[in-house]
Amino acid sequence: MSRLTGRLVVASHNSGKVREIAAMLGPFGVEPVSAGELGLPEPEETEATFIGNAALKARAAALASGLPALADDSGLEVFGIGGDPGVYSARWAGPGKDFRAAMQLVWEKLSVTGDDRSARFVCALALAQPDGSVEVFEGEARGTIVWPPRGEKGFGYDPIFEPLGLSRTFGEMTHEEKLPLTHRARAFEKLVASLK
Ligand code: IMP
Repeated sequence: MSRLTGRLVVASHNSGKVREIAAMLGPFGVEPVSAGELGLPEPEETEATFIGNAALKARAAALASGLPALADDSGLEVFGIGGDPGVYSARWAGPGKDFRAAMQLVWEKLSVTGDDRSARFVCALALAQPDGSVEVFEGEARGTIVWPPRGEKGFGYDPIFEPLGLSRTFGEMTHEEKLPLTHRARAFEKLVASLK
């Protein structure tokens, strides 16, 4: 596990995501520090892909901190509306992070375009070293969009996402139930496999 030892920056300012990534790092004995704790600036996500944005964030945090850094870029792709909101998932909620409104927008657009409610959460996970090198891994969680939103747990679009084969949304699951089913966990499995 040579590339995952000691202090490691979790390059995210989203506390929900920092918590999930820190929990996945638990078994590796690394000491996660968040970009927020280190006062690192949050770079603008200027790339058009999840992989591009994850690499950009991880590299910026590794270069600024001198520590290895792990960043994720993730979002929801709804097939019936051409993969939206995709890399714009956070932006659909606006500066006030109003995910009620963002979920409503998904549903309204879906009601116009037809009935393909299949969707996936995607996560690109990038591990950057202080020398600027980056490795990227991608994971997905497939599911269906439901309406009305259900559940108060989780964050973001969790209340409208029912993972394939299950009858509860991510928003109705505890942190422990949701964690192994996520796109982040699947990307993380690929990262771990690459270290072996
Ligand atoms: P970013 O990766 O920080 O650009 O933001 C991705 C956005 O996608 C988040 O703000 C959430 O709205 C959404 N998202 C990503 N992963 C999840 C998840 O596990 N549940 C619910 N929403 C998510």
